[in-house]
Amino acid sequence: MSKLWGGRFTKKTDQLVEEYTASIMFDKELAEEDIQGSLAHVSMLGKQGILPQEDVEKIKEGLHRTLQRIRRGEIEFSVADEDIHMNIEKTLIEDIGPVGGKLHTGRSRNDQVATDMHLYLRKRVVEFVDLLQKLQSALIGQAKRNLDTIVPGYTHLQRAQPILFAHHLMAYVSMFGRDIERLQDSYKRINTLPLGAGALAGTTFPIDRHYVAQQLGFERIYENSLDAVSDRDFILEFLSAASIIMMHLSRLSEELVLWSSTEFRFIELDDAFCTGSSIMPQKKNPDVPELVRGKTGRVYGHLMGLLTVLKSLPLAYNKDMQEDKEGMFDTVRTLQGALQLFAPMIETMKVNKERMRQAVNQDFSNATDIADFLVGKGMPFRQAHEVIGKTVLYCIQHNKYLLDLTLDEFKQFSELFDDRIYSVLQPERVVDARNVYGGTARTQVADAIGRAEKELEQT
Ligand code: ARG
Repeated sequence: MSKLWGGRFTKKTDQLVEEYTASIMFDKELAEEDIQGSLAHVSMLGKQGILPQEDVEKIKEGLHRTLQRIRRGEIEFSVADEDIHMNIEKTLIEDIGPVGGKLHTGRSRNDQVATDMHLYLRKRVVEFVDLLQKLQSALIGQAKRNLDTIVPGYTHLQRAQPILFAHHLMAYVSMFGRDIERLQDSYKRINTLPLGAGALAGTTFPIDRHYVAQQLGFERIYENSLDAVSDRDFILEFLSAASIIMMHLSRLSEELVLWSSTEFRFIELDDAFCTGSSIMPQKKNPDVPELVRGKTGRVYGHLMGLLTVLKSLPLAYNKDMQEDKEGMFDTVRTLQGALQLFAPMIETMKVNKERMRQAVNQDFSNATDIADFLVGKGMPFRQAHEVIGKTVLYCIQHNKYLLDLTLDEFKQFSELFDDRIYSVLQPERVVDARNVYGGTARTQVADAIGRAEKELEQT
């Protein structure tokens, strides 16, 4: 059979043009969605009396058969048939005869492909919410096991104030929580039906778009036919949500890489998530977080790529828009890979509590608390800051930490010091003193874990 659109042409398509313009190599991924959309469309054509019921049944049977054959890998798609839509239609016609040619009544590939993309992303968003929740659970699990683990908290990658390791992990639970919200919000717009827009202007057939929407579970239908076929905002929204998720994963990745270095030794990733070196026998490399960090770049690239494809594009459909697919599929695969690995990697990560504690003991991250102590005695904060700054300098010059100083040494800097400072300076006290909502005090973190668990249960 020749081209489905061959009527107007007197010459064969150039072989290179055929290959250049085809999308079947990648859009075959939309096969299930394409058939799902066609089934709803043809049901509607029957209900509206646009096609006789007998034809509708034949087409439906043919579509189901085609789906089974595709699933079994029996159909060889052809570049000559350009894309998944035409490949499926051609297979259908070969199977059931000319009546298959009635399927495309009142429809264009422009509203068809947009519908397929909506159906495809709708499924993916649900899967990603689930994967993110699994990662949240893994982080919460580690947080619960580390409610007594104190670790230096950093700003500028310099030790700042001690915090619970659980508090640090729970920061990521919040970040992935926002990612879930972003995906759920984008779902509203993904869940809008373009079908019925025709090529751009609607169709002369008395179709029922609401019925199709209902069949496919779409909450809304596009208001404007031009917009319906030229909108790719929903893909951009997905790519930007995906970019932010990857950015979050890359920050966690970077911390895992740092923490597992010999310099930190805060954590050890399970052997199952690391690889060795072909030359250095001692090496255990954190390849998974490194690669996630690296792959963040390609997801950003896909977002910028599609934004640029769509920039200045006149309404309505343009062939440029076929470029919306590869980046989206690659983003889905990249994100799936990263999220699937992260949950078990976090779950099995060993936390070196002693080493973290040692790091806390050997730093000045309790300096703010001793300044606060002087403030409690009536000294203005700015003056207390200065006094403690000098005390810390003295410590550095004498190779000591604050807890090593005698009371007499403290008193050189202020007469307000008394022996209560030794308990004020204990890391547990320092942590528990930050007893504000969202702070690192043990009770606050335990509450935060409780709230996060409750939220996970509710969804
Ligand atoms: N393969 C095309 C795409 O992905 C399908 C829509 C083609 N429509 C058209 N009028 N050429 O965008």
